[in-house]
Amino acid sequence: MDSLLIKGGVPLHGEVTISGAKNAVLPIMAATLLTKEKCVIRQVPNLSDVQFMTEILQSLGASVRFDGNVVTVQANKVKPVGDYDLIRKMRGSICIMGPLVGRLRHARVSLPGGCIIGTRPIDLHLKAMKGLGASIGIEGGYVDVKARRLVGGDVFLGGRAGPTVLGTANLMMAATLADGVTTIESAACEPEVVDLAYCLSKMGAKIVGAGSPTIVVTGVKELHGVEHEVIPDRIEAATFAIGAAATNGEVTIKGARPDHMHAVLDKLSDAGVKVERKGLVLTVKRGGRLKPTDVTTLPYAGFPTDVQAQMMVLMAVTPGLSVITERIFESRFMHVAELARLGAEISIEGPSAIVKGGRKLSGAPVMASDLRASAALVLAGLAAQGTTQVNRIYHLDRGYEHIDAKLRGLGARIQRVNQQ
Ligand code: EPU
Repeated sequence: MDSLLIKGGVPLHGEVTISGAKNAVLPIMAATLLTKEKCVIRQVPNLSDVQFMTEILQSLGASVRFDGNVVTVQANKVKPVGDYDLIRKMRGSICIMGPLVGRLRHARVSLPGGCIIGTRPIDLHLKAMKGLGASIGIEGGYVDVKARRLVGGDVFLGGRAGPTVLGTANLMMAATLADGVTTIESAACEPEVVDLAYCLSKMGAKIVGAGSPTIVVTGVKELHGVEHEVIPDRIEAATFAIGAAATNGEVTIKGARPDHMHAVLDKLSDAGVKVERKGLVLTVKRGGRLKPTDVTTLPYAGFPTDVQAQMMVLMAVTPGLSVITERIFESRFMHVAELARLGAEISIEGPSAIVKGGRKLSGAPVMASDLRASAALVLAGLAAQGTTQVNRIYHLDRGYEHIDAKLRGLGARIQRVNQQ
């Protein structure tokens, strides 16, 4: 199993280019199941989650080629049953449900696994399919969704923690091939949902309102092939921005979409970080002394839960008391105990983590528990004095393309080591 060895205390300096967004590409790859025609997706990051999705599409009968950062999919014939073990490995695989139901009126998918960040139910996905007239059965770890006729309807998709990103994606995709009009209320507004809607529209779907809480989809008879370039990964860009600030360096982040990052950039500015924006380029450094701050994670356009762990590292190196409140996923504080091993002083009070920042961090062996927690441990290792070994980095490879090489390009002393 691979680990990362980091010799910390070196400020990050230089330029880094952002890859395509994992959370945009996964549903877009699934959307290719909605047509028999060839789909070409560009700016696809080389990640293990993308590999999983490739294998899932192949197990459903599609031919998939991954060449450089271009994925070509042709799903001439598709079957409704996904490979149990493949789907179980990745939470994002739930987004094959909508396209299969749209195209075949039938999907049989295993209940998904993924990061350990709470229970992560799929009740809203099932509500979405029911809203189009499908019936649901759960048996032997599989969900079976069937519809003799798929008919548009009004579906309210707001849950306990607000809208659901992949639930919105699933409903939008199934509804493109349903009869009549589907109105999604309390739809997720994330840029990844908008990118999916844009791609589907290029395939011939009729979708209005993506990016707002009300999305209206008018069903069409069929969709056709598409060429689409995935949006840049706003979470990766935020991770590098925080890395620059936490290590007291200066990083120029190219190919980002600052217009997708308002909440993060605003909080960084509150925290005393200077961010210069020029088109798709961000230059990030400390603007003087760092300041403690409070962050609450919220659905888009609020502060993303996927940047919570990384932000905690910045708080840990900032003298004073900061509070971070997680409102999207319960138990997404697995990194707290590991950050404590580096010397951070953080306590958890209900959904909040109270960070007494400014303690000197020193390197230690730590264990990655989920994707974004892993990113936080890497940032903490870069900011700490001495050597940090981050174990179980397969989580990191799920969502960050060549993170070790990109960090080395910024001067970090980071090596991947293989431990048998
Ligand atoms: N929820 C329900 N019922 C459902 C679905 C979701 O109660 O049927 C709850 C969840 O438990 C959570 C909230 O709704 O409390 C929001 O979850 P959501 O469905 O929006 O999450 P997701 O669509 O499964 C995507 C990203 C996550 C990201 C979340 C929130 C992908 C592949 N995954 O997950 O990304 O954290 O949206 O923005 O798009 C990551 O990249 O590290 C990651 C976990």
